[in-house]
Amino acid sequence: MEERLQKVMAELGVASRRKCEELILQGRVKVNGQTVTELGTKVDKQNAVIHVDDIQITNKTDKVYILLNKPIGYITSVQDQFDRPTVLDLVSEIGVRVYPVGRLDYDTEGLLILTNDGDLTYKITHPRHNVTKTYTARVSGHVSEDAIEIFKKGIFIEDYKTAPAKLEIIKYLDNGTIVNITIHEGKNRQVRKMCDAIGHKVVALKRMSIGSLMLNDLKTGQWRYLNNDEIEYLYSIGGQ
Ligand code: URA
Repeated sequence: MEERLQKVMAELGVASRRKCEELILQGRVKVNGQTVTELGTKVDKQNAVIHVDDIQITNKTDKVYILLNKPIGYITSVQDQFDRPTVLDLVSEIGVRVYPVGRLDYDTEGLLILTNDGDLTYKITHPRHNVTKTYTARVSGHVSEDAIEIFKKGIFIEDYKTAPAKLEIIKYLDNGTIVNITIHEGKNRQVRKMCDAIGHKVVALKRMSIGSLMLNDLKTGQWRYLNNDEIEYLYSIGGQ
């Protein structure tokens, strides 16, 4: 149910409605990671994540769940021996130590979840959960329709046969192809290796979704808090 932001804030015990209006006008209130300064703004009372002065006032747990659109040129490990930027540099303003759920390569962009909920991370990255992940890739050369069947059967990458995967040809370019690829595992550089195995080099790779969580219009380098429905969804994947 949608209600005015100042009303929701007052009900959560932040301050009187009048004082909450001032906080909004002063640019001190964020809803789902975005600063809101308009008094008429309505928010979803159940799912909005509200911060005042960067302190979370909704869902007062110490758990934080973030969806980031990772740019190329950032590593997903927490530390790097070469001192390259890490994805944590992009969310430093949250003031809480979070960790990436799974990995994306340095040269891959797209959807990455970050959280300090170690239980959840453990559950959803466990191989038995087989969460669907969708990528858009630009690959070298023209991919033939045969590749669709080959992906469907699973592909040998090194000594491992992947689970059945989906390949969809989106568009032919002068000297490349845009494809969508859906996999259920998370082996190291899996999409790149699968494409290599059919003779096409991945030139650009972006993760578009993990299960039903999608990037949508979140810009590269931006992040937002997950809402309660999305957090529950992640827990449902983890089998809790
Ligand atoms: N597959 C890859 O090859 N790289 C990624 O970053 C993710 C999936």
